[in-house]
Amino acid sequence: MDKNWYRNMSVYQIWTRSFCDSNGDGIGDLPGVLSKMDYIQSLGVNGIWFSPIYPTPNADYGYDISDYMNINPEFGTLEDFKKILDEAHKRGMRVFMDLVINHTSDEHQWFKESAKSADNPYSDYYIWRKGRGKNPPNNWLSVFEGSAWEYNKDREEYYLHVFAKKQPDLNMDNPKVREEVKKILRFWLDMGVDGFREDVITFISKAEGLPNGFPLPVATGIEHYKHGPHLEEYLREFREVQNEYDCFAVGEGPMTGVKDAVKYCSDGKDKLLDMLISFDHMNADCFMADWIKTPFSLKKLKSAMSSWQNEMYGKGWNCLYIENHDHARIIDRYGDPKYRRESGKMLAAMYFLQWGTPFIYQGQEIGMGNIKLDRVEDYKDVLTFNNYRLFKKLLHFSDEKFLELASKVSRENARTPVQWNSGENAGFTTGTPWFKVNENYKEINVESQENDPDSLLNFYRKLNAFRRNNDLVVYGRYKEYYHSSSDLYVYSRKRKGERLLVVCSFREKPVRFKAPKDFDLSRGEIVFSNYKDLPHEGNGFVTKPYEVRVYHFK
Ligand code: GLC
Ligand code: CA
Repeated sequence: MDKNWYRNMSVYQIWTRSFCDSNGDGIGDLPGVLSKMDYIQSLGVNGIWFSPIYPTPNADYGYDISDYMNINPEFGTLEDFKKILDEAHKRGMRVFMDLVINHTSDEHQWFKESAKSADNPYSDYYIWRKGRGKNPPNNWLSVFEGSAWEYNKDREEYYLHVFAKKQPDLNMDNPKVREEVKKILRFWLDMGVDGFREDVITFISKAEGLPNGFPLPVATGIEHYKHGPHLEEYLREFREVQNEYDCFAVGEGPMTGVKDAVKYCSDGKDKLLDMLISFDHMNADCFMADWIKTPFSLKKLKSAMSSWQNEMYGKGWNCLYIENHDHARIIDRYGDPKYRRESGKMLAAMYFLQWGTPFIYQGQEIGMGNIKLDRVEDYKDVLTFNNYRLFKKLLHFSDEKFLELASKVSRENARTPVQWNSGENAGFTTGTPWFKVNENYKEINVESQENDPDSLLNFYRKLNAFRRNNDLVVYGRYKEYYHSSSDLYVYSRKRKGERLLVVCSFREKPVRFKAPKDFDLSRGEIVFSNYKDLPHEGNGFVTKPYEVRVYHFK
C-alpha cells in the first residue's frame, strides 16, 4: 500500500456554511457542495477537507459538536455526505473530516449527563473541579471568553473550557473518553473517509494538578496544556486505529514550533501525525495572535517558512497553507489589494512550490478579500466579540476603531460567502445570506475568472497541474537566498540535475534582482510569471509590482 499518497496531494478546504446554498435558506450546505464537484475537480486538487459538518449549536460554527456521528441538519444528511464521498472517490479525490476532540459542545449528550452529578457513567468525561472559596479552581483564562472555568449549579463544580463556555474540554485522561474517540474514528473510516484534520490536537493533555499559569490577557495557563504530559501517548493510541486504515492525519498545532513538530511527524514506526499545521508563518504581520497587529515583515515570513522547510526536510512532511477559516484573507495581509491579481499570484507561487502538501481555502483561488462591516452586531463569531470586549476594556477602543481593526484581522473576513458570479448574492444563495457578501463580488467572482486565461483562478489550476506527479516540486530540496532582503523572497528547489528558482517581490516599487551565482537565467525556462513582458538585464531583472517569476532548469 502506498501510504505516501498524501505527498502528491493538494487539498481544498471547505467551510460549508459559506460555500454554496442549495435550498435558499441562506446557509451553505452539502447538496451545494455536491453541485460544485466539477468545479472543485477542475482546480486540480485531489483532496477535500471539510471544516466540521456535524450537528452543532454553532457557538463556534461547528467546532462545538453535539453529535460526532451525524451531519448538521442545516447542511443535509448522512446520505448527502455519502454522495459527496462517492463523487469524490470516483474523481480520484480523498475526503477528510475535521476531528474536534479537545472539547465538545455543552449540548452534547455526554456533557448533559456529566453535568448532572459526580457519580454517573459520564461524570469524568470532562474536567470538573471545586472552586477555591468563591474563586475558580485556578487562574486560567480561555482563548475565547474570560475565565477558562464555568460554574455549574447542578453539579456545584466548575468545568474547564479552554475555548468558549459552550466548548467544555474533554477529560482525555479518562480511558473511556479515548475509547469514544476511537469509535468516532472508526465510524468515519469505515464509511470510507480518508483521514482527519485534528483540531487543536496538541491541547488534549492537561498538566497534572492544573497549576496556575503565567498571567496573560487571554489563554493564561496555555503552557500547561499546549504539549501536555500524555499528548504523545494519546496520539499513539489514536494512531493505532488509524493505521488499520489507508488514511492520513494532519494535526493543528497552535504555538508548536518545528522542533516539536519533528517529534510528532517523523517518518518511521512511531509517526504520530503525517503533518502539522504551523502558525509561525501566519505571524509575519502580528505578534503571537492575529489581533495584535504589527507591520508586515518579510524577514519574519521567510524565517518561519525556511525553518519548517529546512528542519522538517528528510524527517517528516510539511503542510503548506496561507489561508483558512481562522485568518483574514492573505492578499490583504501579505499582498496588496491594489494589485490583487499580481500579488495574489505571487503569494500563490511563493507557498505552493515549497516542500509539502499545499492546501487552498475556499475563495483563496479567486483572491477574495477582507470585508468592512458597519456595525459590531453584523459580526457573528465568539472570538470577534471577545476581542471587542477586550479592546474596549483594556485599550478604550471606540466602535469605529474596533471595526477598522476587525476589518483587517478578524477571522470572519474569510467567512463571507463564496463569490460565484456577479448575480444577486454573488450566486451563493437565492435567499438572504447568513453573513454579509463582500461588496466586491461584481469584480471578484468565479465566473468572471473561469474564461480568463490570466486569472488568479487559472493560475492556481496551472500550479496544481505543474505540481502533480512532479518529483522536483514534491520532493526537491529547498534552499533560500538573500535572506536579509526585506523586499524579495528567493528560493530554489533541487532534485537530481533539475532545479526550480522562485523569485517573489513583496514590493510595489522596482527592486533589482540578480540571480544567485550558480543560476544562468538565460538557460532557464520561465514556467510561472504574473506579467507578460519578461526582460532580463544582466543575469537578473528589475521587478514590476509584486512580480513573481519561476525558472525551471533541466
Ligand atoms: C481551531 C479551529 C478554530 C476553532 C478552535 C476551537 O483553532 O480551527 O476555528 O475555533 O480550534 O475549536
Ligand atoms: Ca442551505
